[in-house]
Amino acid sequence: MRTGLRRRTLPGLVNATGRGTGNEAGTEGQAVVGVAVEVEGLSKSFGSQNIWSDVTLTLPPGEISVLLGPSGTGKSVFLKSLVGLLKPEKGSIVIQDTDLVRTSEHKLYEIRKLFGVLFQDGALFGSMNLFDNIAFPLREHTKKSESEIKRIVLEKMDMVGLQGAEGKLPGEISGGMRKRAGLARALVLDPEIILFDEPDSGLDPVRVAYLNQLIVDLNAQIDATFLIVTHDIGTARTVPDNLGLLFRRNLVMFGPREQLLTSQEPVVRQFLNGRREGPIGMSEEKDVAQVEAEMAALEARGGDAHNGVGPKGASGGDAVPPQLTPTEGLPERKAERRRQERVARMLHEFDEETQEAIRASLPEDLLAQADSGAYESTQGSGGRHWAPEPDAVGSTGRGATATLPRQGGEA
Ligand SMILES: Nc1ncnc2c1ncn2[C@@H]1O[C@H](COP(=O)(O)OP(=O)(O)OP(=O)(O)O)[C@@H](O)[C@H]1O
Ligand SMILES: [Mg+2]
Repeated sequence: MRTGLRRRTLPGLVNATGRGTGNEAGTEGQAVVGVAVEVEGLSKSFGSQNIWSDVTLTLPPGEISVLLGPSGTGKSVFLKSLVGLLKPEKGSIVIQDTDLVRTSEHKLYEIRKLFGVLFQDGALFGSMNLFDNIAFPLREHTKKSESEIKRIVLEKMDMVGLQGAEGKLPGEISGGMRKRAGLARALVLDPEIILFDEPDSGLDPVRVAYLNQLIVDLNAQIDATFLIVTHDIGTARTVPDNLGLLFRRNLVMFGPREQLLTSQEPVVRQFLNGRREGPIGMSEEKDVAQVEAEMAALEARGGDAHNGVGPKGASGGDAVPPQLTPTEGLPERKAERRRQERVARMLHEFDEETQEAIRASLPEDLLAQADSGAYESTQGSGGRHWAPEPDAVGSTGRGATATLPRQGGEA
């Protein structure tokens, strides 16, 4: 898997999808940082059934975000809304100055080329072998030669550990292999925004570990904007820069990992500790008295640390476990520094406990800047939790695309 990544060449995004970026990203060594996705006041219903309302968040460009939430809260509906497959009735989704909720079909088709999407069910064509499935977006959206397509497809298959399975039909392989084929297909266009709906479900724990490493390595190399839906708490605690939680038709919280991982908000704590006690029930929401009784019993047993270990491998009491880093030999993940700068800029907005956690993880120079008052007040939290870097934003304001020199390992 990893050797595939290391050999990975990073062709100019312009060449990959035929889209222009305005800064000649195809030039060797220069490329575009993943784009921001700005969601404001978004609401979605099916008939009289409201799925979620007033969802506001920004996926910071080039960072990895994870969306959590109990089954049925509308995470997949959210991802499908982001690619324009479902139309929310209210609110906006702005990508590169285009509001996907209101734009034309033609423009939507263009914007979709920025995305790499892995749907929850893999969505492979049953009658096509894996090679043709993975080649599909390249044949659909580019004018590449068959030999070039073959090179890219084999490279991505190698990357996800599917070498040799080119000729297999989806029905002939395991669920985990189908998942990985879907992943390879999501990556062939070198997307700038990557949406993965439960990429780790149906994978064994070792493959989940490989997958998580692959996500972090990919982010280090292509600097794309990631949004991952997962139920794996270990993944949520160690992979993303930002976390969000959907519950009861609302986005309860969205913010940097330090904020969510130290949050005292009962729903967030219950979810990130994977426990029964708390507001989230098996099928229905619990009443207040029941939640209070459960929490009292939990406290009597020693709280979340009573097991001695935290959820899925996180040690007990270790609220903010270290974030996964790229495989040795790969470039640093630039998103990490960007997130830290962003977080330093909004440090004063958090409660004390969160500030402590953030301080423990921030480099000295950023802490010094935050403490010297060098940072001006940000746009405020208000569900957005996003402080753009002035130099990355440019004169057009929110939504502009920053440029950074691209490092592609040996590529
Ligand atoms: N096309 C549709 N038409 C009508 N209702 C839908 C449609 N798609 C989803 N829903 C409903 O929206 C709700 C949210 O579904 P969604 O698949 O987004 O949940 P989820 O959070 O992804 O759950 P899980 O964790 O189980 O994957 C469900 O009640 C589902 O039945
Ligand atoms: Mg889902």
